[in-house]
Amino acid sequence: MDQVFTAFLFLLKMGNEIKSILVTGGCGFIGSNFIHLCLRERDYEIINLDALTYAGNLENLKDYESDSRYKFVKGQIEDPELIKDLMQEVDAVVHFAAESHVDRSIEDQKPFVITNVLGTQVLLSGALNSPRLKRFVHVSTDEVYGSLRPDDRPFKEDDHLHPNSPYSASKASSDLFCRASFKTYGLPVVITRCSNNYGPYQFPEKLIPLMCINAMADKPLPIYGDGSNVRDWIYVEDHCKGVLAALEQGVPGEIYNFGGECELSNLEVVKTILKILKKPEDLITFVADRPGHDFRYAMDITKAQKELGWKPEWTFSRGIEMTIKWYQENRGWWEKILSGDYRDYYHRRYGSL
Ligand code: NAD
Ligand code: TYD
Repeated sequence: MDQVFTAFLFLLKMGNEIKSILVTGGCGFIGSNFIHLCLRERDYEIINLDALTYAGNLENLKDYESDSRYKFVKGQIEDPELIKDLMQEVDAVVHFAAESHVDRSIEDQKPFVITNVLGTQVLLSGALNSPRLKRFVHVSTDEVYGSLRPDDRPFKEDDHLHPNSPYSASKASSDLFCRASFKTYGLPVVITRCSNNYGPYQFPEKLIPLMCINAMADKPLPIYGDGSNVRDWIYVEDHCKGVLAALEQGVPGEIYNFGGECELSNLEVVKTILKILKKPEDLITFVADRPGHDFRYAMDITKAQKELGWKPEWTFSRGIEMTIKWYQENRGWWEKILSGDYRDYYHRRYGSL
């Protein structure tokens, strides 16, 4: 009965097609790549709500500043009045905004609770009061499932959640509020969970851009532990295409896993970067391990392949070449970041550039 009721609510809301989208966190790495994709391949009107934290950068979208389909609003997702107003203007939400870095969550958990948990709850409540809302896509992560051992099968959508870091605990919590909003109120929520992304515009605190930049400057490449931890790498454009498919074809209440089907140890990733840049392997420096460091992530993407017709298209060798080229050709983008507020954090962790 419960499911019949939610399906009925869903059908009621499916009346019109989606024309306008509220994208949260669109000035960050994946959100900006998603807006680029939408404005290139679709005709949606987009409102980008972003607080411009250290990770948000208006330069990521400078090519579209004067596009009449695009509007930027500076603000916090946890501001209920602002969210209430913005919800009246859109047919769908694609929610990327988050505190996204595990190491920062270990140092200070509070911003992760405020943005990832409270911010998501405020967005969901705002969405509930919007009669025209047809989809709420919540962008989540493989890290909510916890950590795999070498012989475990990849994560599936109905696996239990076992988050280990404050970051993944806050994302798992936001996933559960999304589930509750679907089950209790029939809000047409779709949850996507993706593995580790890489590509243009990634903030240089994450493994791949940090290693590219340090290697270019002949600085040490800090590897946590022994470098055997495994991640499933996906080129950001493939992830964005998956999120778009979830927006357009995803069934409310469903979860879709995305991944690159490309498991590599951190040491393999870093050695590949050094090889492409023709830099010596003795730049690699083993440093203290991350507390609670998840050993391995890997995604089973069968459901997204079957139900959304999605699959990753980029090989790692092509994606990493493109990414390195982008950081080589866009020195001004990351040099500005390294000389701004991020400088102190970077120097504390990695020494001066
Ligand atoms: P990011 O840190 O690069 O960008 C986050 C953006 O959110 C920034 O522009 C920031 O200014 C904005 N933001 C932060 N707090 C805000 C607030 N309170 N109100 C409004 N805006 C706020 O992150 P990303 O790597 O682009 O990740 C985007 C989403 O994808 C996150 O939800 C993350 O959990 C998820 N995800 C990331 C990866 C990955 O590999 N990076 C993988 C899977 C899922
Ligand atoms: P990261 O890019 O922070 O993503 P996540 O922790 O969300 O997977 O880290 C990817 C992997 O690289 C992870 O196993 C931690 C490791 N790592 C290092 O070894 N050194 C570093 O300086 C960083 C930032 C990460």
